[in-house]
Amino acid sequence: MKYPVLVLALAAPIICILLLSLFFDYVNWEEGRAAPTMGDEIIIMSNDTNDYNRRRAIFIPFPHNTLGSGVDMECRWETKALREGDAAKYDSTQRAAFAEGVCVPPRLNSSLRVFSSAEARECLRFRRVIISGDSYMKQLFVGLADILLSTKLSRDYQMVGSSNRSKVVASANHYLTERRRRDNTVAVVGAGVHIEGAALGEIKKFLNLTKRTIFVPMPAGLNRSREVYEGLLPYLAPNHPEHPFLDVFQLTRSCTMQNCSYDGSHRSRYVNRWKAQLLLNTLCEILG
Ligand SMILES: *[C@@H]1O[C@H](CO)[C@@H](O)[C@H](O)[C@H]1NC(C)=O
Ligand SMILES: *[C@@H]1O[C@H](CO)[C@@H](O)[C@H](O)[C@H]1NC(C)=O
Ligand SMILES: *[C@@H]1O[C@H](CO)[C@@H](O)[C@H](O)[C@H]1NC(C)=O
Ligand SMILES: *[C@@H]1O[C@H](CO)[C@@H](O)[C@H](O)[C@H]1NC(C)=O
Ligand SMILES: *[C@@H]1O[C@H](CO)[C@@H](O)[C@H](O)[C@H]1NC(C)=O
Ligand SMILES: *[C@@H]1O[C@H](CO)[C@@H](O)[C@H](O)[C@H]1NC(C)=O
Repeated sequence: MKYPVLVLALAAPIICILLLSLFFDYVNWEEGRAAPTMGDEIIIMSNDTNDYNRRRAIFIPFPHNTLGSGVDMECRWETKALREGDAAKYDSTQRAAFAEGVCVPPRLNSSLRVFSSAEARECLRFRRVIISGDSYMKQLFVGLADILLSTKLSRDYQMVGSSNRSKVVASANHYLTERRRRDNTVAVVGAGVHIEGAALGEIKKFLNLTKRTIFVPMPAGLNRSREVYEGLLPYLAPNHPEHPFLDVFQLTRSCTMQNCSYDGSHRSRYVNRWKAQLLLNTLCEILG
């Protein structure tokens, strides 16, 4: 099977603006990494082969789909009960998303797709997605890996602490390494606490330097995250379609249950999977 490779460009929290400006020079490819150190029990492969409701998924090249930003992305986190008989139409990834909760902005009510694993794989096949940033971006990476691998890495083991997080990232990368060379690269970059102290001007300068990069803002609830988020909105899609934007601020603001986060700041696995669903909606479209 051909999986896209997902490469995480940062191993440790570093002053993020430094990282950001070096982004295209400093890519710590993890593709040659050794097998996971935690043993195979970290991966529970699901044998869910239900392709029943699967539709063709295609990749949308730069500047990708623009979902919206700011008030247009405000959403209410809610679980969805599937109608009797409908459960069989969805794969385990989709069923888990409905049970764990989704946060659909009303404006996207009829257009946002909850991707099945097969659809996500089909869309990203032959693509290289580089996810760069700090621990928050590692979590987004694991959310996407959960969907692509159709599996729950180590029973939704929450990645408490950076060494745990690195192990899960290494495992996910290990299982995603089969790929093609002719990849069309997508770069996704962002950070959480590490840009709290950054001047808005530096981030804008970064956006100017790194064309075609999808920017991911800080989650809600951190010091200055609203200020930085609101300050950046005018510079990002949809206001500036040449700077694609993945607005995860609103969904983190909406997820207020105790289990949305395991340390008050980093989000739980299911929230990261929802972020990854929004990324898939930015990169992919379903035909028919
Ligand atoms: C999935 O199928 C394989 C091969 O049929 C089997 O060895 C494995 O135990 C199954 N895994 C699960 C989680 O059911
Ligand atoms: C999170 O907590 C809420 C409220 O306590 C609960 O309804 C929901 O099922 C939990 N979600 C997950 C994925 O555990
Ligand atoms: C979304 O649209 C469906 C069907 O039109 C409707 O039943 C539902 O209430 C809408 N949900 C929201 C959050 O607007
Ligand atoms: C890693 O996670 C395990 C299980 O959740 C936990 O017991 C352990 O303390 C964590 N390790 C670190 C360094 O946080
Ligand atoms: C970004 O680049 C444009 C022209 O390429 C320039 O006018 C603008 O001042 C730059 N903005 C920043 C914040 O550097
Ligand atoms: C966040 O801001 C509050 C109030 O200004 C301050 O007391 C706190 O130390 C800050 N927290 C961090 C992590 O910087």
